[in-house]
Amino acid sequence: MKPVEGLIFDLDGVLLDTAQHHYTAWRRLADELGISFLPKDNEKLKGLSRVESLERILSMGGLMLNNDTKLQLMERKNAWYIELIADMTSEDVLPGVRAFIESSRKAGLHIALGSSSNNATTILQRCNLETLFDAIIDGRHVTHTKPDPEVFLKGAAQMNLSPSQVAVFEDAQAGIEAALAGGFHAVGVGLPSNLPGAAWVIPGFVGLTLEGLHQALALQASG
Ligand code: BG6
Ligand code: MG
Repeated sequence: MKPVEGLIFDLDGVLLDTAQHHYTAWRRLADELGISFLPKDNEKLKGLSRVESLERILSMGGLMLNNDTKLQLMERKNAWYIELIADMTSEDVLPGVRAFIESSRKAGLHIALGSSSNNATTILQRCNLETLFDAIIDGRHVTHTKPDPEVFLKGAAQMNLSPSQVAVFEDAQAGIEAALAGGFHAVGVGLPSNLPGAAWVIPGFVGLTLEGLHQALALQASG
């Protein structure tokens, strides 16, 4: 296969450890509602939109609520989440992330963000990451949430690349499914057991090089 020409990064759990803050805030809400919500339940919510996450939690508890109540619950969850991320700075960017993106940019690759979060731009700005991206697609720009590929297809379109020219980095099962559905090279970030279907799974970005990425994807394509 030809080397990829673009990279799309998910935000929560890939560039920053914000996935744990989403979990903490949802857990607080679930506790108040009397719904059991464990880390294994949260794994399935990763990558989904705010409203879809709430719907899943309510259905776990068998709760039917009206739209006004759901909106209030989402606002509360988001307020807690915003408190949790309030002190984030560029120091919180996960190890190796900035170096890998910077070296990829120097090598001429296009870089995009593909996140379900409506808080993405705030976080990127706060952590001094925004200028590293040629395109930023987030929860405000999409109609269909992951595992639909819309967010990544929009990112590829803004980079003027086709999906087969792009690798997507994702920590969520829904994100890997979205990348595969769109025809992208799906690279998992985390534990292989949580990310079936990924072409390659890395534990994080420390020591990752473009050469390493190309070799792993070529190996997978040939096997
Ligand atoms: C995704 C997270 O990136 O964004 C989900 O993986 C989260 O956990 C979703 O629910 C929406 O985020 P936000 O910040 O708009 O509530
Ligand atoms: Mg994520």
